[in-house]
Amino acid sequence: MKTKKIAPSLLSADFSNIEKDIKMVEEGGADLLHLDVMDGHFVPNITFGPFIVKAIKKVATIPLDVHLMIKNPGDYVESFCDAGADYLTVHVEATPHLHRVLQQIKAKGVKVGVSLNPHTPLSSIEEVLDDLDMILIMAVNPGFGGQSFIPNTIEKLKRLQQMLEKHQATHIEVNVDGGIKLENIREVSDAGCDIFVSGSSIFKADNPKEMIQQMKKELE
Ligand code: DX5
Ligand code: ZN
Repeated sequence: MKTKKIAPSLLSADFSNIEKDIKMVEEGGADLLHLDVMDGHFVPNITFGPFIVKAIKKVATIPLDVHLMIKNPGDYVESFCDAGADYLTVHVEATPHLHRVLQQIKAKGVKVGVSLNPHTPLSSIEEVLDDLDMILIMAVNPGFGGQSFIPNTIEKLKRLQQMLEKHQATHIEVNVDGGIKLENIREVSDAGCDIFVSGSSIFKADNPKEMIQQMKKELE
């Protein structure tokens, strides 16, 4: 049985005092920390690399869900595994050799994730389901926090459930990233989401700890 998890995205946290924000969301009941790695090529924004992941790993007490939005992820997955990723996700659009990259992650003993941009069909991962621990469905175009949830994502999530059932792969955790807020979290959950990434809705809330609690209540 999969449990529903809240994964605050540090993209909207205060990096001048990241330890404080990490402790805050951990105390609020966060299940995972979502770390967005951007290279300025795959997405039009740049964030951080393995060095910062390693620093975060030192202070975090919950697992790290590392989301690579970088071209040629195969060149870097080992560094991110060594830096302390517990889940490592690569984009299907970012490499012509997805199967090989997934094996590289698995060989490091890290949970294997693959992400799909909003326009990318579910069929693009049908041949690698056996290699996956997690599927991350983008509900916005990757690159920035604070965007609106793309409504078509709900139908896509329902079709993903059908695909997972057809292949007896319902053990794979489904992660949804982008535009998740208190008002839509239940609908996203009912469509088949297990891990809820949320950046701006948590960190820009008046009381982020309370926001996590309220989101969890919606998932009961
Ligand atoms: C966007 C990132 C997200 C982002 C989500 O490219 O992958 O993780 O932080 O932010 P919100 O929850 O504000 O949409
Ligand atoms: Zn993300």
